[in-house]
Amino acid sequence: MSPTDQADLWARSEAADRQRLLELREQLAYHAWRYYVLDDPQIPDAEYDRLMEELRVLEARYPQWVTPDSPTQRVGGQPLQAFAPVPHRVPMLSIRTETDTSPEAALAFDARIRKELGLGPDDAPVDYVAEPKFDGLAIALHYEHGVLVRAATRGDGLTGEDVTHTVRTIGQVPLRLRETAQRIPRLEVRGEVYMRRDDFEALNERQRQRQDKTFVNPRNAAAGAVRQLDPAVAAARPLSFFAYGLGDVTPAEQGGPTFERHWQVLQALREWGFAVTDLAERCAGGQALADYHRRLGQQRDALPFDIDGVVYKVDRLDWQQRLGFVTREPRWALAHKYPAQEMLTRVLAIDVQVGRTGKLTPVAKLEPVFVGGVTVTNATLHNEDEVLRKDVRVGDTVIVRRAGDVIPEVVAVAPPLPQPRGEPFCMPAQCPVCGSAVVREPGEVDHRCSGGLYCPAQRKQAILHFAQRRAMDIEGLGDKLVDQLVDGGLVRTVADLYRLGLRQLAELPRMADKSAGNVLAAIERSKATTLARFLYALGIRHVGESTARDLARHFGRLEAIMDASEEALQQVPDVGPVVARSIRTFFDQPHNREVVEQLRACGVHWDEGPAIAAAGPQPLAGKTLVLTGTLPTLTREQAKALIEAAGGRVSDSVSRKTDYVVAGQAAGSKLDKALALGVPVLDEAGLRALLSP
Ligand code: IVH
Repeated sequence: MSPTDQADLWARSEAADRQRLLELREQLAYHAWRYYVLDDPQIPDAEYDRLMEELRVLEARYPQWVTPDSPTQRVGGQPLQAFAPVPHRVPMLSIRTETDTSPEAALAFDARIRKELGLGPDDAPVDYVAEPKFDGLAIALHYEHGVLVRAATRGDGLTGEDVTHTVRTIGQVPLRLRETAQRIPRLEVRGEVYMRRDDFEALNERQRQRQDKTFVNPRNAAAGAVRQLDPAVAAARPLSFFAYGLGDVTPAEQGGPTFERHWQVLQALREWGFAVTDLAERCAGGQALADYHRRLGQQRDALPFDIDGVVYKVDRLDWQQRLGFVTREPRWALAHKYPAQEMLTRVLAIDVQVGRTGKLTPVAKLEPVFVGGVTVTNATLHNEDEVLRKDVRVGDTVIVRRAGDVIPEVVAVAPPLPQPRGEPFCMPAQCPVCGSAVVREPGEVDHRCSGGLYCPAQRKQAILHFAQRRAMDIEGLGDKLVDQLVDGGLVRTVADLYRLGLRQLAELPRMADKSAGNVLAAIERSKATTLARFLYALGIRHVGESTARDLARHFGRLEAIMDASEEALQQVPDVGPVVARSIRTFFDQPHNREVVEQLRACGVHWDEGPAIAAAGPQPLAGKTLVLTGTLPTLTREQAKALIEAAGGRVSDSVSRKTDYVVAGQAAGSKLDKALALGVPVLDEAGLRALLSP
């Protein structure tokens, strides 16, 4: 190939790469819009990731083609030293606020607007747009020919802070607008950056698990994320964005868009690629505004994000002009509040509640307070570390937050602190419900009650677990029946199941003689079980089916397990210190032992084999073997039984952790893999030699 051909080929492939790069950017922008704005993705996440990776590779090859509106550039650049000031060419005003939360307060606003517009009783109702008042922070987004060039906070309304580096990490903020907006030289879009409640809860849960500081509310979490100097920190916080208005836009005569009504602005924002709330409505007259306020108020708890009121806006933009401003508030808009979601109150006591899984939660008992539309007397404090970190004590004044269906929580102590203060909180050593020992496992933030089988708080959960198919297998004992049995006082512990009579069962709602008889027969059948199933059924924390099997095989008898030391328990494959401690704690609770005794007295019995531990030497203890091919004299099952009797485990697949592969005739890929990994390979004679050294 001649040098000119070579150059030609290069140029052509470069042109093809360029073409592909533009295509990828377009596709990625489209799919990001489907995903983030419409919440209706068209391709799987993995496909999106693949396209992104392809673009990244191309951009790495041609760094000169990287532009700020590329989807790869959401999190980019170095942390800033400080925020640069951004003057607002159109001031970012605040809105007049109506704090009377009754819907009828909207009527006064309408009356004022009519008066100021000089409308009489015979004139038609004024058209408004009513929107939720999002509880986040206002942001101005500047686009030039459809490309995001700057994002700014409101600041003092005249000058904001440049937060482009953090705002561009928000998926719902388009880096490049759709077609029609690309013709507009200057376009400033205003809206609210906020955090969804579920994202906020998940973020705080992560913080708690990491034993890090939690955020007070979604608004603070969102504002903190936007005002980060390091974009990577912001990118790790799940933020969202709603557009609700325009700022400085190229005038119509210079190629800008024209609108007559605010409603049209909202439609245009949506077309350009922004998320616009579908809760906005056109309302004719004051009564329609009041109705909207009431209706949205009823929906407020169920919304996925916090709102602190609604905003009414006069729809006609020429009328907005005419109404103008008083000081720094437009006359054409009103923020009409809802009851606050955060209030101050006093802590009367700190109780500890026990959940269905045995988790202990400290709960503040409060002087009754009206928060987010309901009276609250209890608020969660999550766990001991949280209480200590927030340093909440009895007698303190605290901020309580109740938003949506989330349980109310104490978010912080509010000064001044009482003098003297109460004692620091301390988790009880005994379960407040059943008196069993309370344990906190290393590395976990939660405290738990160890009285699993006996603790009334955990009763229903324990019974359902006990009855499940892979445990005692009591067919027909589902959650509805368990609710009835426990609530009706017929069953307190699992042992009571074996004392139920036909009459008692048949008299329950939705039960007849036949169904009651079936359940009793299933209970009767469950009496004969295996030690492994029985152990699993007890619901000991960290003892799943396979650990239960290993324990049963290793110890043979229940008594041996109940009395084994933590060291002895750790001789069992896969039982480490955490599991051993959990088993030990469980059987150290006299109540749990009592329930086991009662079950036995009721006729529950299981196969007890000889204790393998006591049966002789365990030459294969802790070893994992894989069988492949046909052995000369032993069947697969016989070989497996011999290995297990010697303390070994048989696995189905070969890995680096495999100790030996036993290969017979016609061994297949497992043998190849063993050879590849350097795992020792034995024949039957080799296996026998291992078994009896
Ligand atoms: S319109 C002149 N619409 O409320 C009117 N503002 O004090 C400009 N806000 O911090 C604002 N939801 O961020 C408008 N649907 C909405 C809003 C909204 C929340 C915030 C805004 C600002 C405050 C106004």
